[in-house]
Amino acid sequence: MSLNVVILAAGQGKRMHSALPKVLHRLAGKPLVRHVIDAARALNPATIVVVYGHGGEAVREAIAGPGIAFAKQEPQLGTGHAVLQAVPLLGAAETTLILYGDVPLTSIEALKALVGAAQKGGGAGGMAILTVELDDPTGYGRMVRSGTVGGKRPSSGSIVRIVEHRDATEAERAIREINSGIMAMPTARLKDWLAKLSNTNSQGEYYLTDIVPMALAEGITIASATAPHAWEVLGVNSKAQLAALERIHQRKLADALLEAGVTLADPARIDIRGMLSCGQDVSIDVNCVFEGDVVLGNDIVIGPHCVLKNVRVRAGTRIEAFCHLEDAEVGAHCRIGPYARLRPGAQLDEHVHIGNFVEVKKSTIGAGSKANHLAYVGDSEVGKNVNIGAGTITCNYDGVNKSKTIIGDGAFIGSDSTLVAPVTIGAGAYIGAGSTITKAAPADKLTLTRAKQLTVDAWKPPKKKLP
Ligand code: UD1
Ligand code: CA
Repeated sequence: MSLNVVILAAGQGKRMHSALPKVLHRLAGKPLVRHVIDAARALNPATIVVVYGHGGEAVREAIAGPGIAFAKQEPQLGTGHAVLQAVPLLGAAETTLILYGDVPLTSIEALKALVGAAQKGGGAGGMAILTVELDDPTGYGRMVRSGTVGGKRPSSGSIVRIVEHRDATEAERAIREINSGIMAMPTARLKDWLAKLSNTNSQGEYYLTDIVPMALAEGITIASATAPHAWEVLGVNSKAQLAALERIHQRKLADALLEAGVTLADPARIDIRGMLSCGQDVSIDVNCVFEGDVVLGNDIVIGPHCVLKNVRVRAGTRIEAFCHLEDAEVGAHCRIGPYARLRPGAQLDEHVHIGNFVEVKKSTIGAGSKANHLAYVGDSEVGKNVNIGAGTITCNYDGVNKSKTIIGDGAFIGSDSTLVAPVTIGAGAYIGAGSTITKAAPADKLTLTRAKQLTVDAWKPPKKKLP
């Protein structure tokens, strides 16, 4: 059966104290609402409608994409009113699933179980609500079941209605089974029910939850699906809640890595903001951040405090502490760092050494080449087995244009040389330390630009006059 998904994302998020709309705050590097959209997409829905709020054009811009429709809700008069705004955009699909843009971690399994429970209802289908038992249910809508008032276990009795915390009696507040807000129901019936909602409650809002008695009155079964973990239905209303969910999510990702055989010095001290894929015998020390797509081959060691963003590292390579790598490729058996920086377009062949305070940008470095200390290599083609001495700089920028430096195989660049691009250093050439090279240096020869050293025999140190 086909499915519509409505994602409610119009809430203001006042408690975030931020100019950024709440659903655009990031969890694992991705806006909250994108987590929800990605989960929705995994269900292969016919339609996804995002309900966004005033001032939320930024939400629209940030998440626009194929298959996503937008409905504006202004002003925000409650969850029922929010879903109502999506109605004109709902497709013909039999079932509609309601998700919240600020509840990022619901598992696809839980959503599938929920939709399955709704669609089992026979005929036009039933309704199903994702619920969970919380030790502290304060603030949430409570699941009132036949015979449960007084806080008996939720499995006893069928769902009668949902009462909001603010509208609940003392006895109802003792119920620990809460409405996650995530629910699925027959699309055609939903449209009728929404049209009949009223706002006569303590908040003067149109409550989506008020469709429950309407469904029951029509003889529609209301099932519940239980979220396997409470965090699957936790929403983000504050920075503290965002930080708490971030930790839960990161711990989950770390556990999956451990499960796959990756060694983590401390699973509580790793952050993955994207996709990290690891080969066999990968070891990651504390406080590393992985962003975008990172692919690590077999037998790789990543030292503490490294940042890797959109990087591929091949087998047997060691990245020492405090390295920063972005949009770069590192070959097999390389040694990087400590304190190295690979910027976009850095491509290292195998057995390359990039040492402390060396920066490489948009350059290819051939197998076996080394730049072990304090160098800048930009817009360069470096051959095999080249030695780049400490303090070497490729002067690739004249203030307007970027130019290229080409260094042939086996060349030796003496320390503190400046190579003023465009310039070519021939294979096997030696550049004397401290040279400023502006013209091509021929292969297999020593080239240097250096004032001759002289010693002044007649020189005497200045002497202070005695009083
Ligand atoms: C709602 C439920 C409550 C449930 C709780 C779970 C209702 C009446 N109550 O509470 O039973 O336990 O969620 O968190 O449905 N939103 C809009 N437009 C609005 C109002 C809300 O888009 O006019 C969105 C918010 O952005 C948020 C979601 O709906 O993503 C829930 O809103 P929120 O105010 O946090 O929930 P409650 O209404 O307190
Ligand atoms: Ca509310």
